[in-house]
Amino acid sequence: MSRHDIQPTDVTGVQRQAREFASEYAHLSLYRRLAEGLAGDDEVAALLLSAQPGQTRPVLILAALHDLVLREPDLPAAQWYPSITGAAASPAGDPWPDVRAAALDHAESVREVIATHTTQTNEVNRSVYLAALLTAACADLPDAPVTLVEQGASAGLLLGVDRYSTTLVSASGQTSVGPRDALVRCEGVDRSAAPLTLRLPSVAARVGVDLHPADLRDADTVRWLEACLWPDLPVRLDRFRAAVRTLAADPPTVRSGDMVGDLGEVIAGVRTRVADEHVLVFSSWALTYVERSQRPRVVDVLEHVAADGTPVSWITAEPDGCVPGLPLVDRPETVLGVTRWRAGRRTVDVLGTCHPHGEWVELS
Ligand SMILES: C[S@@+](CC[C@H](N)C(=O)[O-])C[C@H]1O[C@@H](n2cnc3c(N)ncnc32)[C@H](O)[C@@H]1O
Repeated sequence: MSRHDIQPTDVTGVQRQAREFASEYAHLSLYRRLAEGLAGDDEVAALLLSAQPGQTRPVLILAALHDLVLREPDLPAAQWYPSITGAAASPAGDPWPDVRAAALDHAESVREVIATHTTQTNEVNRSVYLAALLTAACADLPDAPVTLVEQGASAGLLLGVDRYSTTLVSASGQTSVGPRDALVRCEGVDRSAAPLTLRLPSVAARVGVDLHPADLRDADTVRWLEACLWPDLPVRLDRFRAAVRTLAADPPTVRSGDMVGDLGEVIAGVRTRVADEHVLVFSSWALTYVERSQRPRVVDVLEHVAADGTPVSWITAEPDGCVPGLPLVDRPETVLGVTRWRAGRRTVDVLGTCHPHGEWVELS
């Protein structure tokens, strides 16, 4: 059990977690200071005790306070949030008195948000490693139309990967895919010994599945996804907002369901069944939330899809040891892997590692 699994049940426990958060994220000027403020303030720390079981973490109250200033941008507290002011960083000075006042003046609504929400992420810059995975998985089938299925898709932002401009920069140059004039610009460093050349397949059909799909057309949902992004890192918010603008008129379908138990049905419902269809399923920081004993069932489902000779690929960006059949790499980074079925035969390969938000990739 990690220390993150130990949930506080009283104000002292919340304050201990807040102190740990402040020291772990000392480089984030706003969130470090807010966590320090929480650690020394019984009244504000107590608001977090309304969280659902298992959700009592500093990030949840930080998201609820961020949500408050996104809803009420005229509050004095809002001036400290780069996500509201558009500044590159929080101004000099102490944000805690204004944020504390906002929290206590709106205690009822903050408590309500904490009681009814869990933190939720959908990181657009993961398109960097997704593009690298798609390039590798489609290398032997460059012209086959892909049926793309995302497990644990959240709002489905990664299903829009081919509508974003994605660039990998290496020591010897750079490679880009996607529309040149795309609103969303994703970028990462290529640390591979042999620099990659990105190439996206043509996507003929796409769908996601999530236990709690986030609807991009619902303003409250979008604001909560924004609130869960850390305002100290405004580039992530800018990308998120650009992706929402890009996809909102015609968002990818994300079905409500279990990414293991409902996978077969989700795939069957989206297949094009054209002669050279390539069924491509991906999981980015999602399979890790599924109970370990359930994960091998994904392989069984895909084996079944591939049984008639349909080419199937399962690309994964998950922590080491998460994906059934993928060899351990014994590194703390996100592990990139591909499990392929070609003519019914399965092969499994570790492709490399990456930063969890796509800041860099390293393929072997
Ligand atoms: C950390 S988010 C990652 C979202 C997205 N894949 C990304 O990389 O930005 C994990 C997502 O998995 C979903 N999830 C967790 N367990 C699931 C399950 N058993 N079935 C479907 N979705 C699940 C959560 O609701 C959440 O939206």
